[in-house]
Amino acid sequence: MISRRPLRLAPSLLSADFAALGEAMRAAEAAGADAFHLDVMDGHFVPNITFGPAWVAAVRRQTKLPLDVHLMIEEPARYFEAFARAGGNTLVFHLEARADPAALVRAGQDLDVEVGAALRPDTPVDRVWPWLDQLNQIMVMGVHPGFSGQKFIPEALLKVRAVRARLDAVGSSADLSIDGGVTPETALETAEAGATFFVCGNSVFGHGTIADNLALLRSAVQRGAGHAVR
Ligand code: DX5
Ligand code: ZN
Repeated sequence: MISRRPLRLAPSLLSADFAALGEAMRAAEAAGADAFHLDVMDGHFVPNITFGPAWVAAVRRQTKLPLDVHLMIEEPARYFEAFARAGGNTLVFHLEARADPAALVRAGQDLDVEVGAALRPDTPVDRVWPWLDQLNQIMVMGVHPGFSGQKFIPEALLKVRAVRARLDAVGSSADLSIDGGVTPETALETAEAGATFFVCGNSVFGHGTIADNLALLRSAVQRGAGHAVR
């Protein structure tokens, strides 16, 4: 049996209060967050603009947890080195961007960072098969990228199942992540389908308390993974 990575919850800072970020991060970390997810948007690849390497470096100074940097930008190769130097641990590019996946995998090795590939909801999963065994993370989007707080697109569940089957078939222990629309319900379903890395924005920072929200999500993914067929 292929060893899967442990289940991890990564709060997405896009949903946090940027003016009180340190505080939000400390609360999430104290409540057992396993990593932080940082959404970089360039206003071209997606219709929104967020932040760049300097912001990632500021976040890096606040935590030792892994930083999962989601590059929703048209030219990821141009900025790979800057985001690695800023302290990103995993750099996730989009398969729909202007990018040569093989070159980005090599760049990741040179920069000593993990490399992931993300798929928009309208991109067929087989687009990622050629690079599957070289990637450290496959990210299935549960929403159209650009904004937090959207509703999960149910077809993403089928994609998670398909990627899980293929990762197991090639013997890869890469993370299978789900990003967008993750709630305790969809976290349970996607864990059941084989996801290991759960990006949670609104479901952590959008309402209630961070600790309660993370506890709910944690128990959901554990229950889901417990049902998963191995
Ligand atoms: C959407 C981003 C997500 C977003 C998730 O484009 O990639 O990471 O922050 O937010 P929720 O969990 O609220 O859908
Ligand atoms: Zn994201």
